Amino acid sequence: MSKNLQRCSFVIIVTILVSSFASAQSWANDPKIESRVNALLKRMTLEEKLGQINQYSAGSPTGPGTGRSNYEEMIAKGQVGSLFNVNGPQVNEFQKVAVEKSRLHIPLIFGLDVIHGYRTEFPTPLAMSATWDPALIEKAARVAAVEASADGVRWTFSPMVDIAHDARWGRIVEGAGEDPYLGSAIARAYVRGYQGKSLSDPTSIAACAKHFVGYGAAEAGRDYNSTEISDRTLRQIYLPPFEAAKQEGVATFMSAFNAINGVPASANPFTLGILKNEWKFKGFVVSDWTSILELIAHGIGDGPTVARKAVTAGVDMDMEGNLYWTTLADQVKSGKVPMAVIDDAVRRILRVKIAMGLFEHPYADLASASKVTLTPENVALAREVAEKSFVLLKNDGVLPLKPEAKIAVIGPLADDAPNTLGAWSAKGDPKDVVTLWKAFSERSASRATYAKGTEILTHSETGFDEALKAAQQADVVVMAMGEAAGDMTGEAASRSELGLPGNQEKLLEAVTAVGKPVVLLVYSGRPLVLNWASTHVAAIIEAWHPGIQAGPALVNTLFGTNNPSGKLTVSFPRSVGQEPLHYDQLSTGRPLGNVDDSHPPASAEEKYKSRYIDQRI
Ligand code: NOJ
Repeated sequence: MSKNLQRCSFVIIVTILVSSFASAQSWANDPKIESRVNALLKRMTLEEKLGQINQYSAGSPTGPGTGRSNYEEMIAKGQVGSLFNVNGPQVNEFQKVAVEKSRLHIPLIFGLDVIHGYRTEFPTPLAMSATWDPALIEKAARVAAVEASADGVRWTFSPMVDIAHDARWGRIVEGAGEDPYLGSAIARAYVRGYQGKSLSDPTSIAACAKHFVGYGAAEAGRDYNSTEISDRTLRQIYLPPFEAAKQEGVATFMSAFNAINGVPASANPFTLGILKNEWKFKGFVVSDWTSILELIAHGIGDGPTVARKAVTAGVDMDMEGNLYWTTLADQVKSGKVPMAVIDDAVRRILRVKIAMGLFEHPYADLASASKVTLTPENVALAREVAEKSFVLLKNDGVLPLKPEAKIAVIGPLADDAPNTLGAWSAKGDPKDVVTLWKAFSERSASRATYAKGTEILTHSETGFDEALKAAQQADVVVMAMGEAAGDMTGEAASRSELGLPGNQEKLLEAVTAVGKPVVLLVYSGRPLVLNWASTHVAAIIEAWHPGIQAGPALVNTLFGTNNPSGKLTVSFPRSVGQEPLHYDQLSTGRPLGNVDDSHPPASAEEKYKSRYIDQRI
């Protein structure tokens, strides 16, 4: 390449990068938006300002609610800035009150946890990360945005960009795994997909990078637990995906439940300072569900004190906690909380609302929803993403299955539509799910039989006989086993054991003893301990919770129409005792080297290594 050509391509690449960065961020530094924000702010009373930073859940709760119901009355007085957990006609009804009855006509922004699809449910985020394909994830996020916005939801509490190293933590399912580089690329993809080319596009939804920060480092993998994170680990592991989301123009962040090094994330001036002062984030920070109220339980003060600490640290909106609304007015009047702090929070929220075009287009075009929801293209994309998310963990040659094979389909997940959807399935409807068994029965009804065998979590073996009979009559057995979606994965679903729940492994062993090749499909939201299976069954596919097109995607994979090309983004342990576990652990001074750790140490040479005496690393 000539020097001139090189220079020219360099300039083009830089221009493309700069202009895409600029367009993603354009809402953040737009003088027209700023002057509208300032003009509005000047007209607002203290009560109206506190209304903007106040948010309630007005639908099915996703946490322990405050039990409020007088939303309309409060909205009419300008006392609420956002509602969440509502969609459809209710959105327009609440919006009408805000726009027509409140003094300044400021629209509400409506949020929801649209995590891996709205109605078209894609595989869970952890599953999607196994595609290693940010462009595909961006497409899925775009579909979610189009469907959600048509139903009145213009703000999603996604992506969860928490790096997680501990499979016990239930929320590992919501992230992109353990690697900060991949996590950053995927964070960007979600933001691009949700927010589209411009935030003001009516099909764009504001994204929310959560949970800021370190939530994935919960000690012992127990949800909501405290974290200890060194400065190096914070900067190298936990912050990068958040910074990537910021650079991609994400409109909002959510502060986390956990404490970091003794200071709760929802009142942490150090971490929120990185976000707002160092990175110059211009959008707003919403708390997690009552995470400001919970600061009282963290032990850092009473209601007024924790509200003051949270707002001055930089949490702009109080989700469901009701403390900003009830305690800040007096503190502003007495000078304990500077008005400038409240103004900054309100300014950020108005900036996002204006950038989203909510003042011009406050209402959802609900009639359009049926045209853009669950379209054949969306469903086909759900299948493609599922197919690309499956990880082939083992295959002794039984896969792909022979088309003429007589197959027994066994297991509690084989025909379980709700659990196939995965945790946090927004408006996902089990009716839309094509389960594994449904897809099998449609493809080769005469050559496939089904037996549930057992429940996901039970000790009853009443279904075992039927399953064993089905296995005896088949050439090959396909077993769909694993975890329940919402009950065992996602929020408040940490586990201290990582095996197949209940008596599923017992059933697996009994069926395998029949002597037919067994293909195990693992439905899970986290890495499981699969030691027995890995040495006894013929093939294992990590299927995750695959969403509405699970069945067709899995059947295509089993018969070889689809190559299971997914790769793990999380480490699978041999036993719980290895957790936290991640591939990028730093070297020690006593690495295992060539020592065989499959037996207890037999010499000093074998013993004084970074190893376990009772398990291989
Ligand atoms: C609590 C969860 O931690 C958060 O991720 C979610 O967005 C909110 N609840 C709202 O449902």
